[in-house]
Amino acid sequence: MPRSLTQITDLTAAEVSRVFDLCAQMKSRKIAPRPLEGKSVACIFTKESLRTRVSFDVGVFELGGHPMYITDREIKLGERESVADAARVLSRYVGMIVIRTFKQSDVDGLAKYASVPVVNGLTDLVHPCQVLGDYFTMLEHLKPSDRYKIAYVGDGNNVTNSWLNLAALIPLDLRIGTAADTHPDPDIIGRAKANPDSKITITDSPDEAVAEADVVYTDVWASTGYKHLAEEKAAKLQEYQLNSALLKKAAPHAIVLHCLPAERGREITDEVMDGPQSVVFDQAENRLHIQKAIMTFLLEQMD
Ligand code: CP
Ligand code: NVA
Repeated sequence: MPRSLTQITDLTAAEVSRVFDLCAQMKSRKIAPRPLEGKSVACIFTKESLRTRVSFDVGVFELGGHPMYITDREIKLGERESVADAARVLSRYVGMIVIRTFKQSDVDGLAKYASVPVVNGLTDLVHPCQVLGDYFTMLEHLKPSDRYKIAYVGDGNNVTNSWLNLAALIPLDLRIGTAADTHPDPDIIGRAKANPDSKITITDSPDEAVAEADVVYTDVWASTGYKHLAEEKAAKLQEYQLNSALLKKAAPHAIVLHCLPAERGREITDEVMDGPQSVVFDQAENRLHIQKAIMTFLLEQMD
């Protein structure tokens, strides 16, 4: 079976390091591999996207391949035919499948039945490419540490779950500041807590989460496909807004991350997003480099 990235925990800690090494080499242009030469990549998007859609398109092209953007209007995954049959058919045409969709089970199903690698470009459950790129961004901007203090404030969502997945693999002091009923996935919390080298704190106190943190991270309060919950979420999460007063509680060297798109004035203020500690656009750029590294790594595993 080919290797896929359905969640970060599909990788080992050593493999995550390999992906970061590849990413650094790609970004510095020390290497320019073309493992997709002569191959097409099916990029299936059933949710909106700017960063993921464009960075995969560019990344596939730079790796020598042909990206094919497919929306649910055409294929109706799991509706016109089963996910398993779609996986089998796509594998006869393309060298890789990238998918952004709602259900994690659709990504898992594609990975189970495809004979080519499948890369998760975001589901309701996780966003693995995002958090791998984010950790790479931290490594670029922070002094080396055995265990970074990462504060995530806001909705316990797919990005939060991916931070927990990373904590299951590598040592992190991950503090999640969120409301009582916006917690991340309990099974994923359990797996992260099983790593004795990581420290996982889930707290309703934004101040506790952010205290002396190296990184302060936030994301939209209502995720893509769930914007109808915006007001309800805002009422619950107002005190978790990443503003200057909250950022002052972090370490003085702390960097600010946001996966974007941001809803300025809601989960993050302009002052913080445009302030000197924010590296959100470096973070966005790194999506391109990390995804090229992930695709190259998965194709290496096919040899
Ligand atoms: N961060 C991110 O995945 O952005 P898009 O939703 O625009 O792809
Ligand atoms: N939680 C957000 C992340 C966007 C990159 C969403 O799912 O919309």
